[in-house]
Amino acid sequence: MKRELPEIRDLNGIPTLHVDGRPFFALGGELHNSSVSSNDYMDKNVWPNLPGLNMNTVVAPVYWEMLEKEEGVFDFSIVEHLLKRAREYKMHVVILWFGLWKNSESNYIPGWMKRDREKYYVVRKDTGEPLNIISALCEEAVEKDAYAFSQLMKYLREEDGDETTVIAMQIENEIGILGSARDHGKRANELFEAAVPADMAERFSVSGTWKEAFGADAEEYFMAYHYASAIEKITAAGREEYPIPCYANVWLRQFPWYAGSYPSGGPVREVHDIWKLKAPSLFTIGPDIYVAYAPFVMDEYHYEGNPLFIPEIRKDASSASYCLYAFGQHNALCFSPFGIEDLKADKESMPGPDPSVLAELNIDPAAFDTTGTDIYLSQAYGFMNDIMPLYLQYRGTDHFKCYLKKAETERGEYFRFEKFDLLVTYFRPQPHKPAPAGFIFELAPDRFLICGMMSRIKFFAKEGGGKKAGFINIEEGSFVNGQWTPGRIMNGDERMDVSFGGDIRCFMAELGEY
Ligand code: DGJ
Repeated sequence: MKRELPEIRDLNGIPTLHVDGRPFFALGGELHNSSVSSNDYMDKNVWPNLPGLNMNTVVAPVYWEMLEKEEGVFDFSIVEHLLKRAREYKMHVVILWFGLWKNSESNYIPGWMKRDREKYYVVRKDTGEPLNIISALCEEAVEKDAYAFSQLMKYLREEDGDETTVIAMQIENEIGILGSARDHGKRANELFEAAVPADMAERFSVSGTWKEAFGADAEEYFMAYHYASAIEKITAAGREEYPIPCYANVWLRQFPWYAGSYPSGGPVREVHDIWKLKAPSLFTIGPDIYVAYAPFVMDEYHYEGNPLFIPEIRKDASSASYCLYAFGQHNALCFSPFGIEDLKADKESMPGPDPSVLAELNIDPAAFDTTGTDIYLSQAYGFMNDIMPLYLQYRGTDHFKCYLKKAETERGEYFRFEKFDLLVTYFRPQPHKPAPAGFIFELAPDRFLICGMMSRIKFFAKEGGGKKAGFINIEEGSFVNGQWTPGRIMNGDERMDVSFGGDIRCFMAELGEY
């Protein structure tokens, strides 16, 4: 039966991914880079590790080098297998197009392109040294990528248009130049010395050369302009075949902060204005978050015109708390820790992440410590599934709040509701446990549902009324298929300390005053 195509629609003023006409929240996990290249490997080491995590979406790469080994001849067998298994495992898929650029470099281009460096030329540093990055100014290369991507989208339209297993496409991966602030090839130099293009001059009210117009930021802005233009060509070509939502992801601007230490010209927040101007076919820019200050990155990358879509995030136990924050605070469309197949893998037989690789990728090693994550993340995903009807009803209103301990110095949060206030006190951090986080629903002025972890709650009557808050009734429980299912009634000793440990729990509280 024909289904409606995935799209981003406004739902009560919030941009929301819709799959087959219904709101859909991707509770995802991204696969390791090479997993999809072998159907056999996927069947042995990936698919069996996913059930039980309560995921509904796999974020998976496909590789240009495998799809178009011979120029103009396409082989979609890995995509076919991916779709087949995803349907069997009842998962949706976000496809990552590893084309011209992946983590800055051009390692996934087909062999025929690698062999013709004359035609498909690379970026040069100011010393003339070549980098393993196809230049964004190489029109022939961009056209070839756009064509290959459009063939992939045509394949998806034909093979998946009726099923909509694939719900979004990521265009390339963490693009930009690592190792130089800009391309110093011949064509790049000519354009950099010329006047800024009319659309940039108009948008930023500047004139003159790039240097005159943008000073110290000129190199990065120049690269952002040309990368975004290339991505627009590729995305538009694909969407012409099959118009499902497309986005780009970003390697964050982070220590040591200078352009080229992170991929220069990639869609870091500081150059979004340029990316939005030149790549309107992307519905958003999604952050890849491995830094210790993950929640602040979410705060930065969610704004009007840029819904939060997280294709990659840390996979330590705190990912469970960040999941709540992403959906609760930022109406996320997708949340997806990286290397998800590791969570349920036999830890003994797994080599840990290579520290030198993590150092090269500028990744906090703690981000890859998966101890406890399978338990807490699957609870968070299960909770999101169960609470969905209430979440959809309340998000975006004053009757719904989310909390998270975002920084070491934070001790808790005080919420003011219509008739009662609520103090949340955070527990001290514990190794391999989630961070304090939770959802609060004010169902009526005297009725609250609080679901959380690693925190304690206490209600207060409004000041000045000479009264205190007390429980008429408080019960623990859970949601089953959207229905509140009560467990213990908390009284006696238990009523004196209403708190959550590492496992996510819910309390339904009816309050009165005395
Ligand atoms: C970010 C990249 O986007 C991923 O493909 C992967 O390389 C991770 N870093 C780290 O392993």
